[in-house]
Amino acid sequence: MSQAKVRAKASKTGMQASARSKPRVWAAQWIGRRHMMFKYAGQSMPAPLYRKEFTLNGAVRHATLHICGLGFYVARINGRRVGDRVLDPSASQYDRRVRYVTYDVTDMLRAGVNAIGVTLGSGWYNGHTVEFWNLDRAVWRDYPKLILELEVRLESGKKFRLASDGSWRVAEGPILFDGLRNGEHYDARAERPGWDKPGYDDGAWEQAAIVPGPGGVLEPQLAPPCRVMKTLTPVSLRKLESGAVIYDMGQNMAGWALLRVSGPAGTQITLRYAERLNAEGDLDIAGMDRFIESGEFQTDRYTLKGQGDELWEPGFTYHGFQYVRVEGLPGKPSLDTIRGRVVHTSFDEVGGVATSSETLNRLQDCARWAYVGNFVGFPTDCPHREKNGWTGDAHLAAETGLLNFGAGAAYGEWLDSIADCQRPSGQVPAIVPCAGWGYNWGSGPAWDSALILIPWYIYLYTGDRSHIDRLYPAMARYVHYLGTLATHHIVHFGLGDWCAVDGSRMAPSALTSTAYYYVDTCLLARFATLTGRNQEAAAFEALAVRIRRAFNAAFYHGDGRYADGQMTALACAVYQGLVEDDQRPAVVARLVEAVEANDGKVDFGILGAKYVPRVLAENGHAELALRLFTQPAFPGWAHWLQDGATTLRENWNNSDSQNHIMFGDISACLYSYFAGIVPDPMRPGFKHVTLRPHLVDGLDWVKAWHRAPAGIIRSAWKRAGRKVTFDVTLPEGTRGALVLPDGSRATLDSGSRRVTWPL
Ligand code: BGC
Repeated sequence: MSQAKVRAKASKTGMQASARSKPRVWAAQWIGRRHMMFKYAGQSMPAPLYRKEFTLNGAVRHATLHICGLGFYVARINGRRVGDRVLDPSASQYDRRVRYVTYDVTDMLRAGVNAIGVTLGSGWYNGHTVEFWNLDRAVWRDYPKLILELEVRLESGKKFRLASDGSWRVAEGPILFDGLRNGEHYDARAERPGWDKPGYDDGAWEQAAIVPGPGGVLEPQLAPPCRVMKTLTPVSLRKLESGAVIYDMGQNMAGWALLRVSGPAGTQITLRYAERLNAEGDLDIAGMDRFIESGEFQTDRYTLKGQGDELWEPGFTYHGFQYVRVEGLPGKPSLDTIRGRVVHTSFDEVGGVATSSETLNRLQDCARWAYVGNFVGFPTDCPHREKNGWTGDAHLAAETGLLNFGAGAAYGEWLDSIADCQRPSGQVPAIVPCAGWGYNWGSGPAWDSALILIPWYIYLYTGDRSHIDRLYPAMARYVHYLGTLATHHIVHFGLGDWCAVDGSRMAPSALTSTAYYYVDTCLLARFATLTGRNQEAAAFEALAVRIRRAFNAAFYHGDGRYADGQMTALACAVYQGLVEDDQRPAVVARLVEAVEANDGKVDFGILGAKYVPRVLAENGHAELALRLFTQPAFPGWAHWLQDGATTLRENWNNSDSQNHIMFGDISACLYSYFAGIVPDPMRPGFKHVTLRPHLVDGLDWVKAWHRAPAGIIRSAWKRAGRKVTFDVTLPEGTRGALVLPDGSRATLDSGSRRVTWPL
């Protein structure tokens, strides 16, 4: 496709304005190793090294590197690594859109001869092992390839440009294998010292081939990249009879181990990763590898070159783990043998919340660790078993994300991927990126609505409506598609209250699916108005009225009862705005009754986990929401803590994944209900701040901060004797109100204020 056509296409699909209206014109060509395409599952596929030398005739004033290496790349100039991004670029639907990255490399170049070298990993692009989600059969799957352009301005004013083309040289490097979900194998004996510096003899290397690109439009990656965000020292080590050593990182995390070892050349060290131990104290991966059909699961291998202290870490795979089993260590293992490298999207931190309850504080920590461990480039369900971008998990945790982290831009790029895999009918898959799996199972409104809800949340919390503007056509197509699935406005398709305590008591999925159909339609009406589509707005509004009527006719039995009175059914109707006003008190009363009758224990799955606490807190029962969060018995959030959780889990009974984020709305609830920082749907982006803290019995103090676009909002309260003090701060230029315990409002101006209230 010509550049002009690419441009036209980009504007038709409404892609992000600034970055996409003026696509960069590349002089460079995609290069690859053509014969790699004949290598398939099970065959070794060493990561290729590409190199090129070039001469600069004078000192450098400024130099910029544009690069896209698929699946992942690491670039080096004159022996030094370029930047600190890892697992870059982030995954996309490669046949629709591919992301490139721009670096300022001025300081890395010099007058005279320079060398650039790039290693390519397989990543999401070249899924060459077999697993359940068909990554190896994705239409876009292909051997690693590279496009690169270096633009230099010399002090003399002269310009120099280096572009990837058929003159580049390529050879196999020391990474013998890299599989996203399998691990990485590195043989240090196969290193090519000096390959990334000038003067290296690459005479025996192959000529790079000019190859077709991945097919997608090249766009700049504007979201923050993945980085190594923390380095953890293991808290303990234990030697097994077999000689293997089990390291405990003390924290469930996503990333990998950094190995420090010395020993004879050819010694092979194996690192296996898991988040649980079995009764013998060995790794327990039972069930976690069930979707991996070829290759190992979460296993890295390092072969020593035998030259003193060797430091190594993988870079084209990542793992979810708390424990690392190290086999084959030549010397005495110590706590310094490995480090835990915590890897995730490098968001800014934009919030924090703490309370007088140790249980809530630990759950807040768990939620944050689960959130970041499930955001390695894009939102995932878990960092080990699947690493999949399950849409439902993403929207359920999005408010937690936006209150704690500056996640808007990273969500934005992932939302593009959802739109990129939308079918002409409007249907979207349950996992994104999508290799073709997930359109007909695992999807449905309670998952797919991520396409509509996440842009809404970003607007609500940050005031940024660009995602709504850009994705409106895709969203509207999706709502029309739901119309085709519905029978008399009821949608029967889709997963429901997933991971409920007891599947036999789960709220009907037709109820939860239809409620999302309703909410999506209401939001589309609002987005249509916002974007000046008044006729469409009226049509969506009218449709919403019909869905609401049909919903109540199908599921409301009067006297406050929806469906069979499941907590999720009741809370869903209220939370999604489907209950007639005069019936709301009765429905809330039934919900309160159900939670109390169950001793404050949960009886719902991931959907109820979002609705029930919110509905309780918003309708005068914040105490009961607190009880749900903190009561220690099974099933409930706090019950996980008894089992030593450091992240949130997949199931109430602790089975399966120990690091899922889909129950993670609890953190947003701490900010919004206990600290009272709640966004105002009528004035998105905290332009007007309403602080509405709930003074619940059982908490003595709560404090939270959140960086809104205008600046930092703080809300804290504390009981002292027979009074309570509120300490609140609004950013410059912002006004707001503090809602006091009797419902009255104290007006707030920017700056700090203390309000005292008698108890
Ligand atoms: C994933 C979930 C996901 C679910 C939906 C699971 O395998 O881990 O988090 O939402 O499937 O079917």
